[in-house]
Amino acid sequence: MNRKNILITGGTSGLGLELAKLFTKRGDNVKVTGRNGKSALSGESFIYTDFADLSGVRDAANALITNGFSPDVIINNAGTLGPASFTTTKDGFEYTWQVNFISHLLLNDLLLKASGGGGEKLLVFVTSPVFKLVKPVYRLPEESEYSTFRAYAESKYFLLLTGDYLAAKYSDKKLNILKFSPGVFGSGIFRMRRPFLRAVYLVAEPFMPGPGRPARRLLHLIDNNLYDSSKVFMARGRKSVAAPEMNEESEDFLFSLEKAVNIVR
Ligand SMILES: NC(=O)c1ccc[n+]([C@@H]2O[C@H](COP(=O)([O-])OP(=O)(O)OC[C@H]3O[C@@H](n4cnc5c(N)ncnc54)[C@H](OP(=O)(O)O)[C@@H]3O)[C@@H](O)[C@H]2O)c1
Repeated sequence: MNRKNILITGGTSGLGLELAKLFTKRGDNVKVTGRNGKSALSGESFIYTDFADLSGVRDAANALITNGFSPDVIINNAGTLGPASFTTTKDGFEYTWQVNFISHLLLNDLLLKASGGGGEKLLVFVTSPVFKLVKPVYRLPEESEYSTFRAYAESKYFLLLTGDYLAAKYSDKKLNILKFSPGVFGSGIFRMRRPFLRAVYLVAEPFMPGPGRPARRLLHLIDNNLYDSSKVFMARGRKSVAAPEMNEESEDFLFSLEKAVNIVR
């Protein structure tokens, strides 16, 4: 089998770490991003990146490009349930949106721009079933309307559209898009919640499935080329649900965000 270059965002914990183990075990060349290098697989494959800092995302992309690492697969997995109250990053974006969605748009764009037109690439977007609960409003979150859940659900909705947006923008490159909803499993995802909710989660976690099953399911989808960008594939069973559709409004919105983060056309 060909050794593939795999980039996993948020590969230091939960689903991302599980995926990193699976790809590494079969000999792929794996790089993971995150902030907690101690829990990554090895120092060599870890790239420190705080997704709440766009300059850090640019540095990570530049480090990969400079080292000649051109990913065959990018797994856009880093995610947070977000802070209890409205918080902005130093770039001025709402925290959850930036970590879950905007930084991924930037990272993928920089890597795609630098890549040659050669072989096929696969972009994977890890969402959550809550994306279905979103009635999209094409503007950045405002403090007066903030809820942790809403910010999370919206970020996961727009992350899905990022795949379609990039596929249209880079139609000259051979991009495949896979959208994946891993279901509920025990992980570090509750770490930013209020202490009470964190405590409840810690009690419930031993009774929850681990990230192994969704990781294996995602690997199965990847290995068997089961991509269809109009669908979100679920971890359980062989189910999928319809993905949000790109329309003129969402395309304009993503275009405006591109400009806001200074992505050069
Ligand atoms: N767990 C669930 O039940 C569930 C359900 C549906 C969807 N999901 C999705 O599955 C994906 C993986 O989550 P998980 O449950 O495995 O959670 P997790 O254990 O908390 O892992 C999240 C990963 O994202 C990284 N991350 C978080 N904030 C970051 C930041 N500011 N900058 C850079 N990296 C950051 C973390 O790395 P560092 O800590 O090293 O920074 C970690 O590697 C997420 O997209 C999540 O939304 C999870």
